[in-house]
Amino acid sequence: MSIVIRTERKEDYSQVWDVNFQAFGNREDEAKLVDRIRLSEYFIPNLSIVAEINNEIIGHILLSKAEVFDTDMVHEVIVLAPIAVKPGHQNQGIGKQLILEAFNRCKDMGYFIVMLIGHPTYYPKFEFKQARQFGLELTQFEVSDDVFMVCELKSNELSKIKGELKYPKAFLG
Ligand SMILES: CC(C)(COP(=O)(O)OP(=O)(O)OC[C@H]1O[C@@H](n2cnc3c(N)ncnc32)[C@H](O)[C@@H]1OP(=O)(O)O)[C@@H](O)C(=O)NCCC(=O)NCCS
Repeated sequence: MSIVIRTERKEDYSQVWDVNFQAFGNREDEAKLVDRIRLSEYFIPNLSIVAEINNEIIGHILLSKAEVFDTDMVHEVIVLAPIAVKPGHQNQGIGKQLILEAFNRCKDMGYFIVMLIGHPTYYPKFEFKQARQFGLELTQFEVSDDVFMVCELKSNELSKIKGELKYPKAFLG
């Protein structure tokens, strides 16, 4: 079975909804989040990526723009959310392929800081580190240090940025 990793197309939207719905335990929140991000100015079509097997979409990752506010400047960063792999296809490396493809695309576009709120045991496999130790903050959501993470896609990028991450409106429901 060969896996195709490619940019999401409009005709994929309903299958992508299903992937998110099923991966998150038949909950609509993440599928709706994807819909809201797609409609926002922070959406980057090239960073909505699907994994497909035999014309069936079984995985999806979405990264989009967000901002980190320092005292006198605003940094544009990328946030990763959500990522989903259909239950029958998990733990086969598909999530990893989606993340690595997304990272390559970010680098090609000149984005070198990726932030997220997520599983503290999954993302460190991809060099995500706790963000607050680098002077990054998040107050919109009450999250512990271990789930608020950042990854630099180019060495030394983290030394250039500090401040408070503000997720765009799409994330606020
Ligand atoms: C998280 C998710 C996207 C990972 O995709 P995947 O294709 O199953 O992951 P991969 O096969 O690439 O990676 C598997 C590794 O991740 C680990 N892993 C998978 N889900 C995990 C989770 N929820 N928490 C911690 N580790 C997890 C596996 O144990 C495995 O570890 P190993 O490489 O040391 O053996 C997928 O499991 C999923 O859709 N989960 C439900 C939705 C979700 O929780 N999304 C993330 C929200 S932060």
